Formats: sequence, structure tokens, C-alpha cells
Amino acid sequence: MTYVNGPNRRGGKRSPYLWERDMPKTSDTAIVCYSLSGHSKRIAQRLANDLGADLIALSDPRYGPNWVGYMRAVWHSLRQNCVLAPQTFTSLDEYHTLVICGPIWTSYPATPLRALMKGHIPLPARIALFLTCGNHNPVQKTLDLARDDLGRDFVATACLGNSQQDTAQEEPVVAKFLSDLTRGATHASSA
Ligand SMILES: Cc1cc2nc3c(=O)[nH]c(=O)nc-3n(C[C@H](O)[C@H](O)[C@H](O)COP(=O)(O)O)c2cc1C
Repeated sequence: MTYVNGPNRRGGKRSPYLWERDMPKTSDTAIVCYSLSGHSKRIAQRLANDLGADLIALSDPRYGPNWVGYMRAVWHSLRQNCVLAPQTFTSLDEYHTLVICGPIWTSYPATPLRALMKGHIPLPARIALFLTCGNHNPVQKTLDLARDDLGRDFVATACLGNSQQDTAQEEPVVAKFLSDLTRGATHASSA
């Protein structure tokens, strides 16, 4: 397994934005995160700390944090062009629970997330989804699309707006997500 930021490499505390290569599986839970501008990465880091989970980067070099990369992201998202870029992992089903974390793009889950959910990489049975967004679209529609991509229900879902990040408003969103995840509640797409 690569790009895993394990819990015990730095005195039990993960370094916020360091995703390390070539680290072994250290938990039954993993957070796999795609983040273009850092919002999802921050919340993924928090979830990894809260859950004692491994943190794995989902990468796609086509979408750099620049104008061209942004426009390509918009274009691919609108065209629903969801091709999984080469990753440093080949399976994730060695985990019991997987949290997929990343942004909303053009009202869809970002294309790297969709490519993972629709793709060939083996995933575990228990999957949760944590999205970040700019607060300007109906989230349920995006969650329904994600459920269709995955082909089954998530055990927990959440969406955090950028304006809620690192504020008191983040707490109930994360608490509900973690509670659902721990309880293993199944969310119907229309719930
Ligand atoms: C290409 C692109 C499209 C986006 N489309 C939406 C959108 O439809 N609705 C929304 O609420 N936010 C949208 N956003 C904002 C992101 O969802 C939001 O900033 C998110 O927190 C970014 O996560 P990241 O920093 O981990 O990349 C979009 C951002 C990008 C780059």
C-alpha cells in the first residue's frame, strides 16, 4: 500500500498535509481522498485522526491547481468523463471500511471519485462518502448520483461547505457522519 499516512509514525499524531509513500496498512479503516485545493484533504485528515484510519491519496495529475487544470476538471465533469488515473494502490478491499472523501464538481462527485466508485479497483463492502462543496447545489442529488456510481448504498454520507470548514458548524456534520459510520446505518439514496 502506498500513500498511506499511518497513525504511529510520528508519535501517534498525523502530520496534517503529509501523505507518505510505501507505508503498510495500519487500520481496518481507510480514508481515500481526492483534493484539488485542500478542503477535502483537511477534512480527510481530521477523519483519519478521529477514526485512527489510514489516509490514502487518490491522485489525478490532469487536474492541477491552475487555470488549465480547473477548466479540464469542469470539462471532464460536465462530460462525465470519469477515467481513473494510474494510482499507487491496486486494491482497497483489504480494508473493512472505506471512507471516500473529495469535492463536488459541477454538481457531480469529482471525476476521480466517480472513477474510483465506478471502476475496477476492488473496494470493501462498507463504504462511506464525505463530500466538500462550495454550498451552491442541492447535495442530495449529488449523493444520489454517487450511490448510482457505486451501485449500492453508503453506510454514511456527509457534505461540508467550504464556509463551514473549521467552524463550529463543522462539528455536528462530522459527529453525525462518524455516528452513522460507527453504527453502520444504511442510507437509502432517497433518504
Ligand atoms: C471544477 C470545479 C467545479 C465545482 N463545482 C461545484 C459545484 O457544482 N457545486 C459546489 O457547491 N461547489 C463546486 N465546486 C467547489 C468545490 O466543491 C469546493 O471548493 C470543494 O471544497 C473543493 O475541494 P478541494 O479543495 O478538496 O478540491 C467546484 C470546484 C471545482 C474546482
